[in-house]
Amino acid sequence: MLNHRILQKTRLSSLAPLFLSAILVAQVAPVAASDHGHQKAQAKFNQAGELARPANIKEWISIGASVTPKDMNNGKPAFPEFHYVYLDHTSWAHWKKTGEFREGAMIAKELVSVGSKSSASGSGYFAGDYVGPVAVSVKDSKRFAKSSNWGYFVFGDDKAQSAPADESCVACHQANAAQDMVFTQYWAPLRAVSPKK
Ligand code: HEC
Repeated sequence: MLNHRILQKTRLSSLAPLFLSAILVAQVAPVAASDHGHQKAQAKFNQAGELARPANIKEWISIGASVTPKDMNNGKPAFPEFHYVYLDHTSWAHWKKTGEFREGAMIAKELVSVGSKSSASGSGYFAGDYVGPVAVSVKDSKRFAKSSNWGYFVFGDDKAQSAPADESCVACHQANAAQDMVFTQYWAPLRAVSPKK
């Protein structure tokens, strides 16, 4: 009897490190696997419903760059000129698994001028400098139920908070974007990794 008890104790204690490592793996693995060590991106709103400027946009995943040059738009494109577009890491991981935008997804669009039209690689449009505000869209089905689950914001240079932009953003995205209010038709990196393609 005594021997039996000792044996049981020994067995349990020799298993303990295994249990412990299983718990550690369960806690650590999902973060490492989905976000590549990046903190989960989270849209932060104040009580007035203003969005806080998301940090580290340039470290998000680049999903493409459109260009609406002045010389092809009578000098006044709606968004001049290069549009560098980024998706937060958590949403990129979710997209790769599902081909959909997660609740809480954030997409940012930065504007860069055309700097020159020829380079060592040929004629074309080459980036100049950052210009204008940063546009951000956020998917939140409770907050933005009335605008197909997405909210639209614009951050000027010194703006730390932004109130939702006017209805024009929603209307154009609703009418023209290919999937869930996002212009996936222009974002090749997204389409390339979508399990739904
Ligand atoms: C007249 C149509 C139109 C309006 C108005 C418009 N957008 Fe867009 N938006 C586009 C198009 C087209 C793209 C993709 C191609 C590009 O970048 O030009 C885009 C892309 C975006 C993206 C990148 C993610 C995506 O949805 O594909 C964000 C973020 C964005 N717009 C925010 C805004 C905000 C904020 C406003 C309002 C201030 C706004 N947009 C108004 C047409 C529009």
